[in-house]
Amino acid sequence: MKIRNILTAAALAVFAVSTAETPLYLDENAPLDARVADALSRMTTAEKVAILHAQSKFCSPGVARLGIPELWTSDGPHGVRAEVKWDEWDQAGWTNDSCVAFPALTCLAASWNPEISALYGQSIGEEALYRGKDVLLGPGVNIYRTPLNGRNFEYMGEDPYLASRMVVPYVRALQSNGVAACVKHYALNNHEANRHNTNINIDDRTLYEIYLPAFKAAVQEGGAWSIMGAYNLYRNEHNCHNSRMLNDILKGEWGFDGAVISDWGGAHDTDQAIANGLDLEFGTWTNGLNNGRTSAYDTYFLADPYLERLADGRADMATLDDKAGRVLRLIFRTAMNSHKSFGSLCSDEHYAAARRIGNEGIVLLRNENNVLPLPATPGMRVLVVGENAIKMMTVGGGSSSLKAQREILPLDGIRAALTGIATVDYARGYVGDVTGEYNGVTTGQDLTDSRSAAELIAEAVEKARNADYVIFVGGLNKLSGQDAEDTDRAELGLPYGQDDVIEALAQANPRTIVVNVSGNAVAMPWVDKVPAIVQAWYLGSEGGNSIADVLTGRVNPSGKLPFTFPVHLADNGAHAMGDYPGTLRDDGIYDQTYREGVLVGYRWHDTRDIAPLFAFGHGLSYTTFAYGELTADRSELNADGTITFSIPVTNTGSRAGAEIVQLYISDPVASVMRPEKELKGFEKVYLEPGETKTVTFTVGADALSFFDADTHSWKAEPGAFKALACAAADDIRSTYDFTLR
Ligand code: GLC
Repeated sequence: MKIRNILTAAALAVFAVSTAETPLYLDENAPLDARVADALSRMTTAEKVAILHAQSKFCSPGVARLGIPELWTSDGPHGVRAEVKWDEWDQAGWTNDSCVAFPALTCLAASWNPEISALYGQSIGEEALYRGKDVLLGPGVNIYRTPLNGRNFEYMGEDPYLASRMVVPYVRALQSNGVAACVKHYALNNHEANRHNTNINIDDRTLYEIYLPAFKAAVQEGGAWSIMGAYNLYRNEHNCHNSRMLNDILKGEWGFDGAVISDWGGAHDTDQAIANGLDLEFGTWTNGLNNGRTSAYDTYFLADPYLERLADGRADMATLDDKAGRVLRLIFRTAMNSHKSFGSLCSDEHYAAARRIGNEGIVLLRNENNVLPLPATPGMRVLVVGENAIKMMTVGGGSSSLKAQREILPLDGIRAALTGIATVDYARGYVGDVTGEYNGVTTGQDLTDSRSAAELIAEAVEKARNADYVIFVGGLNKLSGQDAEDTDRAELGLPYGQDDVIEALAQANPRTIVVNVSGNAVAMPWVDKVPAIVQAWYLGSEGGNSIADVLTGRVNPSGKLPFTFPVHLADNGAHAMGDYPGTLRDDGIYDQTYREGVLVGYRWHDTRDIAPLFAFGHGLSYTTFAYGELTADRSELNADGTITFSIPVTNTGSRAGAEIVQLYISDPVASVMRPEKELKGFEKVYLEPGETKTVTFTVGADALSFFDADTHSWKAEPGAFKALACAAADDIRSTYDFTLR
């Protein structure tokens, strides 16, 4: 055979081999870590560093030479944010980037329904997928420590067990679409004031019992593919590169194999970013909201400065490979996941999901004489009062702000629901915030009203006197200083003189119903002067319909509070102990100590015997429920055993409804101070009139344990324990004493 033919045959043979063998990193059937190792072996040092930091406001580069795509992130926890310009916060001006605005996560938590959480994650995941996003910057699970925190509306309440149970289905369902969750803000970001320069001092027991569990559940049970570092400091290290939080706890103790993403502008130092666990740097040189340098990406801490350290030996390749490997794993799970479908955007299913989440999360706080639901009396005269009945709430509040394709406002929802039944009139009642723009997204509303407060109240009162029912829709809004990122509220009370309006309405009409739209507890000095109060959250695109569904009785409310409403701010542990928002040090850092320790929320109220305005876990229904006796399959428990509690619950009313049965555990005699009781189980049970179901809870020693900082371990001390079946933290229905041997 001529030499030429031999060479040709050899060349063909090589070509055949190379095309037959897909490079390992592209083989989705290969083990993930093998793919990562293969990709790393093909990448240059510069390519490895390049994927560790942003190249635009919301995306980071891939490795084009190897066909590894860039990674696209987007806010936020309640919907997929509108497109911004490559290098700026303002709008890109697209016309195909509207979304469904889902209810805020406080509403999701108030549903106490993990199935609803899965529906939420699936729906928002489909929207993110359709919009081409690989990482959704949410959900947030920071514990509700103070009612002044501007971002509580983005989180899941005051109890670590409730937040843990509710975050896991969201993360799993979201990621089932091939879109990564980025659970935030890890950790101890429990208020917004001075968020970039606040250092938190906290004892280990409080850290592990209260502030870490929801993040741990998201990682270990939810399988979160990314975590967002918080702005604040812990032990005087910024959380975006904090050795203990990221290396020791997240990656060490919890075995997190994903990527740690900085909050936007949360990285501050190259050596710390290299050594202390940051993997993907975004938003440096910005305040995370609205300013920042342009095209500064090469100057990022994990950019040229990192390359310099690798070149001169101050940084090692092993650490670089670990970081780049985590980012590659995130890319393989998302952008390079060929099993992804195509998602869907603004579908009827997503609107239906938003409405259902709202319907299950709205909380009926008070309903004297069953003034609700509104009767369907033909010719009924209903007056709606309040700015929040007509104000769009999907725009504003910070990074969770959305360009919703539609937002049904409360007045519109109520009018639609009562069409043909009642006349629905409106009075402004007060003027609060007439702006309506955030980062270039505008509501298009003109809410200006030049009338005085007295004139506005006079109009509302006059109309109220001639109405059969008055529905006041007020509360807070997404303006800075209310429910908004980067700021905290200055007080517990309602703004804009709403208390005066409510008092005047209550005097004018005994059937005045208050609908509080907020992401936080508010003071209610008029609580006994109105027969009904509804906590309505920020409900997103279907808000007006959900509110109308509950007010008219189309839906029987079943939500319960995920956080305590204190009567006074001083009744809250963080404020009673007096260290919020921290003391300014000479170095410009606000130093704050969580002096109340584990006594957060109802734990504080119980242990200090302070009656709340409305308790954690409180929520009424249009039917009634009776609880039977709490029993158990044993009265003694071994350390490695379990105990199963049972309690029958009956719908004693005349319409179907759902009741959230809560199980708390009390350890009355312990070597350490323990809260009077702690939530360790819940179940939302749906019952027809007259129906009884037995709810069971099986718990083991972990539900009896406290975190022992001395041994860095969870400890359940033998002795007497009490299980409490409750309808709310202040509504104990039955108890059962048992012993841990
Ligand atoms: C913001 C927020 C964070 C958000 C990020 C990107 O400052 O703290 O939650 O995802 O920056 O907008």
